[in-house]
Amino acid sequence: MKLRIILAGIMVAALSTVAYAQQPIVIKLSHVVAVDTPKGKAALQFKKFAEERSKGRVRVEVYANSMLYKDKEELEALQLGSVQMLAPSLSKFGPMGVKDFEAFELPYLFDDYADMHKVTQGPLGQQMLKKLESKGIVGLAYWDNGFRQLTANKQLKSPNDCRGLKMRIVSAKITDAYMRALGAIPQVMSFGEVYQAMQTGVVDGGENTFSNIYTQKMYEVQKHLTVTNHGYLGYAVIANKRFWDGLPADIRAILESSMRDATKYNNDIAQKENNEALAAIKKSGKTKVTLLTPQERLTWKKALVPVHKQMEGRIGKDLIKAIYKETN
Ligand code: LMR
Repeated sequence: MKLRIILAGIMVAALSTVAYAQQPIVIKLSHVVAVDTPKGKAALQFKKFAEERSKGRVRVEVYANSMLYKDKEELEALQLGSVQMLAPSLSKFGPMGVKDFEAFELPYLFDDYADMHKVTQGPLGQQMLKKLESKGIVGLAYWDNGFRQLTANKQLKSPNDCRGLKMRIVSAKITDAYMRALGAIPQVMSFGEVYQAMQTGVVDGGENTFSNIYTQKMYEVQKHLTVTNHGYLGYAVIANKRFWDGLPADIRAILESSMRDATKYNNDIAQKENNEALAAIKKSGKTKVTLLTPQERLTWKKALVPVHKQMEGRIGKDLIKAIYKETN
Protein backbone atom coordinates (compact mmCIF):
# COMPACT_ATOMS: atom_id res chain seq x y z
CA MET A 1 0.00 0.00 0.00
CA LYS A 2 2.74 2.38 1.06
CA LEU A 3 4.71 1.55 -2.09
CA ARG A 4 1.64 2.28 -4.26
CA ILE A 5 1.23 5.69 -2.67
CA ILE A 6 4.92 6.47 -3.19
CA LEU A 7 4.75 5.31 -6.82
CA ALA A 8 1.60 7.38 -7.42
CA GLY A 9 3.36 10.37 -5.88
CA ILE A 10 6.33 9.91 -8.19
CA MET A 11 4.01 9.67 -11.20
CA VAL A 12 2.13 12.86 -10.26
CA ALA A 13 5.44 14.70 -9.79
CA ALA A 14 6.73 13.39 -13.13
CA LEU A 15 3.53 14.39 -14.93
CA SER A 16 3.52 17.85 -13.47
CA THR A 17 7.18 18.28 -14.49
CA VAL A 18 6.19 17.35 -18.06
CA ALA A 19 3.24 19.74 -17.87
CA TYR A 20 5.52 22.46 -16.52
CA ALA A 21 8.08 21.82 -19.23
CA GLN A 22 5.31 22.17 -21.82
CA GLN A 23 3.99 25.47 -20.44
CA PRO A 24 4.80 28.05 -23.10
CA ILE A 25 6.75 31.16 -22.24
CA VAL A 26 4.16 33.92 -22.45
CA ILE A 27 5.16 37.33 -23.79
CA LYS A 28 2.65 40.12 -23.39
CA LEU A 29 3.34 42.82 -25.99
CA SER A 30 1.32 45.96 -25.44
CA HIS A 31 1.01 48.98 -27.73
CA VAL A 32 -1.26 51.97 -28.20
CA VAL A 33 -2.04 52.13 -31.94
CA ALA A 34 -4.61 50.35 -34.10
CA VAL A 35 -4.01 46.85 -35.46
CA ASP A 36 -4.12 48.16 -39.01
CA THR A 37 -0.93 50.26 -38.75
CA PRO A 38 2.74 49.44 -39.42
CA LYS A 39 3.35 48.81 -35.70
CA GLY A 40 0.11 46.88 -35.24
CA LYS A 41 0.86 44.61 -38.19
CA ALA A 42 4.53 44.13 -37.33
CA ALA A 43 3.64 43.12 -33.77
CA LEU A 44 1.44 40.37 -35.23
CA GLN A 45 4.24 39.30 -37.60
CA PHE A 46 6.58 39.02 -34.63
CA LYS A 47 4.01 36.86 -32.85
CA LYS A 48 3.68 34.63 -35.90
CA PHE A 49 7.43 34.20 -36.39
CA ALA A 50 8.12 33.62 -32.69
CA GLU A 51 5.36 31.06 -32.21
CA GLU A 52 6.12 29.14 -35.41
CA ARG A 53 9.89 29.10 -34.95
CA SER A 54 9.71 28.09 -31.30
CA LYS A 55 7.18 25.38 -32.21
CA GLY A 56 4.81 26.63 -29.56
CA ARG A 57 7.35 27.07 -26.76
CA VAL A 58 6.63 30.78 -26.88
CA ARG A 59 3.21 32.41 -26.89
CA VAL A 60 3.02 36.10 -27.78
CA GLU A 61 -0.10 37.93 -26.69
CA VAL A 62 -0.44 41.25 -28.52
CA TYR A 63 -2.62 43.93 -26.92
CA ALA A 64 -3.29 46.82 -29.33
CA ASN A 65 -5.05 50.19 -29.09
CA SER A 66 -4.11 51.06 -25.46
CA MET A 67 -6.25 48.06 -24.46
CA LEU A 68 -3.97 47.22 -21.53
CA TYR A 69 -2.09 50.43 -20.80
CA LYS A 70 -1.86 54.05 -21.90
CA ASP A 71 1.42 55.77 -22.75
CA LYS A 72 2.94 56.42 -19.35
CA GLU A 73 1.49 53.36 -17.65
CA GLU A 74 2.91 50.97 -20.22
CA LEU A 75 6.52 51.92 -19.50
CA GLU A 76 5.92 51.47 -15.78
CA ALA A 77 4.24 48.11 -16.45
CA LEU A 78 7.26 46.95 -18.45
CA GLN A 79 9.68 47.90 -15.71
CA LEU A 80 7.52 46.10 -13.14
CA GLY A 81 7.35 43.02 -15.39
CA SER A 82 3.55 43.14 -15.85
CA VAL A 83 4.21 43.09 -19.61
CA GLN A 84 7.36 41.78 -21.24
CA MET A 85 7.52 43.83 -24.45
CA LEU A 86 6.41 47.22 -25.79
CA ALA A 87 7.00 49.43 -28.81
CA PRO A 88 6.58 53.03 -27.58
CA SER A 89 7.36 55.96 -29.78
CA LEU A 90 10.87 57.32 -29.29
CA SER A 91 9.43 60.52 -27.93
CA LYS A 92 8.05 58.80 -24.84
CA PHE A 93 11.27 57.89 -23.04
CA GLY A 94 12.08 61.39 -21.73
CA PRO A 95 9.95 61.18 -18.57
CA MET A 96 11.78 57.98 -17.50
CA GLY A 97 15.12 59.77 -17.80
CA VAL A 98 16.33 58.54 -21.20
CA LYS A 99 16.59 61.84 -23.02
CA ASP A 100 18.63 60.67 -26.02
CA PHE A 101 15.61 59.41 -27.92
CA GLU A 102 13.97 62.80 -27.59
CA ALA A 103 16.48 63.96 -30.18
CA PHE A 104 14.30 62.23 -32.77
CA GLU A 105 11.63 64.82 -31.92
CA LEU A 106 13.75 67.69 -33.20
CA PRO A 107 11.73 69.30 -35.99
CA TYR A 108 12.97 68.83 -39.55
CA LEU A 109 15.83 66.64 -38.38
CA PHE A 110 15.39 64.17 -41.26
CA ASP A 111 14.42 64.87 -44.85
CA ASP A 112 13.03 61.42 -45.52
CA TYR A 113 13.06 57.78 -44.39
CA ALA A 114 16.48 57.10 -45.95
CA ASP A 115 17.97 59.98 -44.01
CA MET A 116 16.50 58.75 -40.76
CA HIS A 117 17.66 55.17 -41.36
CA LYS A 118 21.24 56.41 -41.39
CA VAL A 119 20.75 56.93 -37.66
CA THR A 120 18.37 54.14 -36.65
CA GLN A 121 20.13 51.48 -38.70
CA GLY A 122 23.67 52.64 -37.94
CA PRO A 123 26.03 52.51 -34.94
CA LEU A 124 24.61 55.69 -33.39
CA GLY A 125 21.15 54.16 -33.20
CA GLN A 126 22.57 51.03 -31.55
CA GLN A 127 24.45 53.12 -28.97
CA MET A 128 21.23 54.92 -28.15
CA LEU A 129 19.36 51.63 -27.62
CA LYS A 130 22.09 50.53 -25.17
CA LYS A 131 21.29 53.50 -22.95
CA LEU A 132 18.04 51.80 -21.99
CA GLU A 133 19.83 49.06 -20.08
CA SER A 134 20.38 51.21 -16.99
CA LYS A 135 16.57 51.40 -16.74
CA GLY A 136 16.16 47.61 -16.77
CA ILE A 137 15.17 47.63 -20.45
CA VAL A 138 16.66 45.93 -23.51
CA GLY A 139 16.31 47.83 -26.79
CA LEU A 140 15.66 45.32 -29.56
CA ALA A 141 14.91 47.31 -32.71
CA TYR A 142 13.66 50.49 -34.31
CA TRP A 143 10.36 50.38 -36.14
CA ASP A 144 9.34 53.20 -38.48
CA ASN A 145 6.02 54.88 -38.62
CA GLY A 146 6.40 58.10 -40.56
CA PHE A 147 6.38 61.86 -40.54
CA ARG A 148 4.11 64.01 -38.43
CA GLN A 149 1.53 66.30 -39.98
CA LEU A 150 -0.52 69.01 -38.31
CA THR A 151 -4.29 68.80 -37.97
CA ALA A 152 -6.76 71.38 -36.69
CA ASN A 153 -10.19 72.77 -37.32
CA LYS A 154 -8.76 75.72 -39.22
CA GLN A 155 -6.36 75.75 -42.11
CA LEU A 156 -2.71 75.96 -41.04
CA LYS A 157 -0.87 77.42 -43.97
CA SER A 158 1.84 79.29 -42.10
CA PRO A 159 3.28 78.98 -38.58
CA ASN A 160 1.34 82.05 -37.48
CA ASP A 161 -1.92 80.19 -38.04
CA CYS A 162 -1.08 78.05 -34.99
CA ARG A 163 -1.16 80.99 -32.57
CA GLY A 164 -3.35 80.32 -29.57
CA LEU A 165 -4.39 76.82 -30.67
CA LYS A 166 -4.46 74.07 -28.04
CA MET A 167 -2.43 71.31 -29.63
CA ARG A 168 -2.16 67.77 -28.24
CA ILE A 169 1.42 66.61 -27.80
CA VAL A 170 3.25 63.57 -26.43
CA SER A 171 5.01 64.08 -23.13
CA ALA A 172 8.27 65.42 -24.60
CA LYS A 173 10.03 68.66 -23.78
CA ILE A 174 11.12 69.18 -27.39
CA THR A 175 7.63 68.89 -28.74
CA ASP A 176 6.49 71.31 -26.06
CA ALA A 177 9.22 73.73 -27.16
CA TYR A 178 8.39 73.63 -30.85
CA MET A 179 4.66 74.00 -30.29
CA ARG A 180 5.43 77.08 -28.20
CA ALA A 181 7.72 78.33 -30.98
CA LEU A 182 4.63 78.25 -33.20
CA GLY A 183 2.67 80.21 -30.60
CA ALA A 184 0.44 77.20 -29.85
CA ILE A 185 -0.54 75.96 -26.39
CA PRO A 186 0.76 72.40 -26.02
CA GLN A 187 -1.41 69.90 -24.12
CA VAL A 188 0.23 66.63 -23.04
CA MET A 189 -2.17 63.74 -23.50
CA SER A 190 -2.05 59.96 -23.89
CA PHE A 191 -2.54 58.77 -27.45
CA GLY A 192 -5.66 56.80 -26.51
CA GLU A 193 -7.42 60.00 -25.40
CA VAL A 194 -6.73 62.14 -28.45
CA TYR A 195 -9.73 61.29 -30.61
CA GLN A 196 -12.21 62.18 -27.88
CA ALA A 197 -10.32 65.33 -26.94
CA MET A 198 -10.50 66.47 -30.56
CA GLN A 199 -14.13 65.52 -30.86
CA THR A 200 -15.17 67.41 -27.73
CA GLY A 201 -12.94 70.42 -28.38
CA VAL A 202 -10.67 69.83 -25.38
CA VAL A 203 -7.87 70.36 -27.90
CA ASP A 204 -8.02 72.26 -31.18
CA GLY A 205 -5.58 70.08 -33.02
CA GLY A 206 -2.61 67.79 -32.96
CA GLU A 207 0.23 66.28 -34.92
CA ASN A 208 0.53 62.73 -36.09
CA THR A 209 1.34 60.46 -39.00
CA PHE A 210 -1.19 59.82 -41.78
CA SER A 211 -1.47 56.25 -40.52
CA ASN A 212 -2.42 57.28 -36.98
CA ILE A 213 -4.68 60.12 -38.14
CA TYR A 214 -6.54 57.67 -40.36
CA THR A 215 -6.75 54.60 -38.12
CA GLN A 216 -7.77 56.60 -35.03
CA LYS A 217 -10.36 58.45 -37.16
CA MET A 218 -8.90 61.81 -36.16
CA TYR A 219 -9.62 63.00 -39.71
CA GLU A 220 -13.33 62.76 -38.91
CA VAL A 221 -13.02 65.33 -36.13
CA GLN A 222 -10.41 67.67 -37.67
CA LYS A 223 -11.42 69.82 -40.62
CA HIS A 224 -7.87 70.47 -41.84
CA LEU A 225 -4.62 68.61 -42.28
CA THR A 226 -1.41 70.31 -43.42
CA VAL A 227 1.31 68.14 -44.90
CA THR A 228 4.20 69.65 -42.93
CA ASN A 229 6.31 66.48 -42.50
CA HIS A 230 7.84 68.40 -39.61
CA GLY A 231 8.97 65.53 -37.42
CA TYR A 232 9.65 61.84 -37.37
CA LEU A 233 7.59 59.32 -35.42
CA GLY A 234 9.22 55.95 -34.90
CA TYR A 235 9.44 53.33 -32.21
CA ALA A 236 11.91 51.46 -30.04
CA VAL A 237 10.84 47.86 -29.56
CA ILE A 238 11.87 47.02 -26.02
CA ALA A 239 11.77 44.18 -23.49
CA ASN A 240 12.07 43.86 -19.74
CA LYS A 241 15.78 43.11 -19.29
CA ARG A 242 15.40 40.62 -16.44
CA PHE A 243 12.89 38.64 -18.48
CA TRP A 244 14.98 38.78 -21.65
CA ASP A 245 18.25 37.82 -19.96
CA GLY A 246 16.51 34.97 -18.15
CA LEU A 247 15.25 33.28 -21.33
CA PRO A 248 16.82 29.99 -22.45
CA ALA A 249 19.54 30.86 -24.99
CA ASP A 250 17.86 28.98 -27.87
CA ILE A 251 14.55 30.79 -27.27
CA ARG A 252 16.30 34.14 -27.12
CA ALA A 253 17.97 33.38 -30.46
CA ILE A 254 14.57 32.52 -31.98
CA LEU A 255 13.08 35.75 -30.64
CA GLU A 256 16.00 37.74 -32.00
CA SER A 257 15.59 36.29 -35.48
CA SER A 258 11.80 36.84 -35.27
CA MET A 259 12.44 40.45 -34.29
CA ARG A 260 14.88 40.93 -37.18
CA ASP A 261 12.30 39.72 -39.67
CA ALA A 262 9.38 41.60 -38.08
CA THR A 263 11.52 44.75 -38.18
CA LYS A 264 12.23 44.30 -41.87
CA TYR A 265 8.53 43.75 -42.47
CA ASN A 266 7.59 46.89 -40.52
CA ASN A 267 10.16 49.09 -42.21
CA ASP A 268 9.21 47.76 -45.65
CA ILE A 269 5.53 48.65 -45.22
CA ALA A 270 5.62 51.85 -43.13
CA GLN A 271 5.95 54.38 -45.94
CA LYS A 272 3.45 52.62 -48.16
CA GLU A 273 0.92 52.36 -45.32
CA ASN A 274 1.24 56.07 -44.64
CA ASN A 275 0.78 56.95 -48.31
CA GLU A 276 -2.31 54.76 -48.45
CA ALA A 277 -3.68 56.38 -45.30
CA LEU A 278 -3.22 59.84 -46.87
CA ALA A 279 -5.08 58.68 -49.98
CA ALA A 280 -7.91 57.31 -47.81
CA ILE A 281 -8.12 60.55 -45.81
CA LYS A 282 -8.34 62.57 -49.03
CA LYS A 283 -10.95 60.23 -50.43
CA SER A 284 -13.13 60.52 -47.32
CA GLY A 285 -13.67 64.23 -48.07
CA LYS A 286 -13.94 64.85 -44.30
CA THR A 287 -10.79 66.86 -43.93
CA LYS A 288 -9.17 69.33 -46.31
CA VAL A 289 -5.57 68.40 -47.05
CA THR A 290 -3.24 71.37 -47.56
CA LEU A 291 0.06 70.88 -49.35
CA LEU A 292 2.89 73.37 -48.90
CA THR A 293 4.94 74.94 -51.67
CA PRO A 294 8.74 74.72 -51.16
CA GLN A 295 8.66 78.39 -50.16
CA GLU A 296 5.94 77.79 -47.56
CA ARG A 297 7.81 74.78 -46.22
CA LEU A 298 10.81 77.01 -45.70
CA THR A 299 8.72 79.32 -43.51
CA TRP A 300 7.80 76.39 -41.26
CA LYS A 301 11.41 75.30 -41.11
CA LYS A 302 12.54 78.80 -40.17
CA ALA A 303 10.03 78.87 -37.33
CA LEU A 304 10.89 75.42 -35.98
CA VAL A 305 14.56 74.69 -36.55
CA PRO A 306 15.81 77.20 -33.90
CA VAL A 307 14.44 74.68 -31.38
CA HIS A 308 17.50 72.49 -32.12
CA LYS A 309 19.79 75.11 -30.56
CA GLN A 310 17.35 75.80 -27.76
CA MET A 311 17.30 72.12 -26.78
CA GLU A 312 21.07 71.56 -26.81
CA GLY A 313 21.11 71.82 -23.04
CA ARG A 314 18.61 69.00 -22.69
CA ILE A 315 19.79 66.54 -25.29
CA GLY A 316 23.46 67.43 -25.50
CA LYS A 317 25.27 69.30 -28.24
CA ASP A 318 27.41 66.24 -29.02
CA LEU A 319 24.44 63.98 -29.72
CA ILE A 320 22.81 66.56 -31.97
CA LYS A 321 26.10 67.01 -33.81
CA ALA A 322 26.52 63.23 -34.15
CA ILE A 323 23.04 62.97 -35.73
CA TYR A 324 23.79 65.83 -38.14
CA LYS A 325 27.02 64.05 -39.09
CA GLU A 326 25.18 60.82 -39.93
CA THR A 327 22.57 62.56 -42.03
CA ASN A 328 24.66 65.09 -43.95
C1 LMR B 1 1.39 59.39 -30.29
O1 LMR B 1 1.22 59.34 -29.06
O2 LMR B 1 0.94 60.29 -30.99
C2 LMR B 1 2.16 58.28 -30.96
O3 LMR B 1 3.37 58.16 -30.30
C3 LMR B 1 1.38 57.01 -30.92
C4 LMR B 1 2.12 55.86 -31.57
O4 LMR B 1 2.49 54.95 -30.84
O5 LMR B 1 2.29 55.91 -32.79
